[in-house]
Order: sequence, then structure tokens, then C-alpha cells
Amino acid sequence: MLSLATDEVHIHLLRPELAKETDEKILDSAEQQRAQSFKFKKDRDLYVAAHVFLRQVLSRYAAVSKKDWQFVSNAYGKPAIANLSYGWLQFNLSHTHGRVACAVAHNRAVGIDVEQHRYLSELPLLCRSAFSSLEAENVLSAPHRDIQIQRFFSYWTLKEAYIKARGMGLSLPLQQFSFVQDTHQNWQLHYSPNFQDDGKNWQFSTCRLGRDHHLAYCVQTDDSTSSKALRVRVMEA
Ligand SMILES: CC(C)(COP(=O)(O)OP(=O)(O)OC[C@H]1O[C@@H](n2cnc3c(N)ncnc32)[C@H](O)[C@@H]1OP(=O)(O)O)[C@@H](O)C(=O)NCCC(=O)NCCS
Repeated sequence: MLSLATDEVHIHLLRPELAKETDEKILDSAEQQRAQSFKFKKDRDLYVAAHVFLRQVLSRYAAVSKKDWQFVSNAYGKPAIANLSYGWLQFNLSHTHGRVACAVAHNRAVGIDVEQHRYLSELPLLCRSAFSSLEAENVLSAPHRDIQIQRFFSYWTLKEAYIKARGMGLSLPLQQFSFVQDTHQNWQLHYSPNFQDDGKNWQFSTCRLGRDHHLAYCVQTDDSTSSKALRVRVMEA
């Protein structure tokens, strides 16, 4: 059994093509139905690998077998554990071709995003639709295409991890909050005056996973005056 201290966030990573266990039968009926709804086998396989992995990860923290986890979703679709006595185990899942990431934390809201690195021909359009003007300017003013793409995915994954931690999906206006790096290269979150903040404090970070993927997480911290960062542990399956 893995222990998860209250001041920790654990990030579990999987390369879905190397998944040892992909038995769809351990998924619940809603998951199996969703798996069947994918048109392409590669999408179905990724979904199944991610959801089997999520169940494996959760069972490392509690005496609940993989197939016995039950989930409930909020109004925006964010799933949480429904099993009695295990609500403290908070998680978030992200999957893209080649990578699955699952973050878990003890009684803290958490969000995670993993994205596949790719060439984006519509970069100005994407930046304008999803980023604040500050973020879009920072991406589009970079001197080299590779730097633009790197910055784009840093912002994209950070913003996605944040809205996933808040659990409100795209109902949060993406242009009204900005990620800004301070002089120590730490990311700070700035809100525009009419943005609906929920009063929580957050710790976040973004990184490249090899050449092909970008990852960011966002986890609720205790209070803005606390200088103590949560400990982050990354585990590769
Ligand atoms: C659904 C959404 C939460 C994430 O979508 P995504 O990035 O395509 O997918 P990810 O793989 O990272 O995450 C999917 C998982 O998040 C979880 N999830 C679903 N709704 C969620 C919500 N409201 N909040 C948090 N997590 C959620 C589920 O576990 C889901 O897994 P499943 O689809 O296999 O059931 C939402 O943020 C969205 O629609 N994003 C669209 C992308 C976009 O425009 N992003 C702008 C970023 S700047």
C-alpha cells in the first residue's frame, strides 16, 4: 500500500502501449459503454488503458479492489470517488496518445493535463481563443517557432490543469486568467478583476515529458502565506 501524506501530491504516469493490464471487464458499465462508443480502436484502447490505470492507481492507496471503485461526476463532468470513506482520495486523470497521467492528493483539489507535442498551424488563432492577451503575446512574440510551440504547450497545460482542478471545465473564461513566470521562474496565477476566483490557493508546475509530451499539474495548497510547498512525487508505471 502506498501512503499519501497530506502535504504530498503523487503523479502516476503510464505509456499506454506498455500497459500490462488492459482488461476492460474491470471497468464499470458506464466506462464500458463509453469505451464502446469510440469510432477508432486506438481511441478506445487509450480510454480503456487510462481507466484501468486509474483504478490500479487508486487501489494502491486503499483496500478497495480495482473493479470496486465507484465514481460520481459534478455538473461539469469532473469525476470523484463515490465509495464511502474514501472521499479524501482526490484524483484527476488525463490521457493523450502515448501518455496517461493521474494525479492524486489527500483532501485537496487537483488537476492534471498531458498533451502530445505537435506542430500547430493555427497557433495565432488558438492563442487568441484560449489565452489571455498577455499569454498570447508571450507565445507569438517568441523569436523561433520551436520556442513558440514550447510556450504554447506550457500555457495550455497549465490552464487546463487549473480548470480541471477547479472542476468547472470551459465554463471558466480562459482569457480572464494568466500564468506569469516570476524572476525565479515560478509560475504565478493572475486574475482579471471580474474573474470568479474560488478563494483557494494553488501550486502548479509544467514540464516536458521527453520529446513528445507536455504535462502540468495544479493542486490546492493550504494558504497563500505558507511558504511550504507541497511535495511532488512522480511515479512511472
Ligand atoms: C473535459 C476537460 C475537463 C478536459 O479535456 P481534455 O484535455 O480533452 O482531456 P484530458 O485527457 O486532459 O482529461 C479527461 C479526463 O478529465 C476528467 N474530467 C472530465 N471532466 C472534468 C472536469 N470538468 N474537471 C476536471 N476533470 C474532468 C475525466 O476523468 C476525463 O477522463 P475521461 O474523458 O476518460 O472520462 C475540459 O477541460 C475540456 O473540455 N477541455 C477542452 C480543451 C480546451 O479547449 N482547453 C483549453 C485549454 S487552455
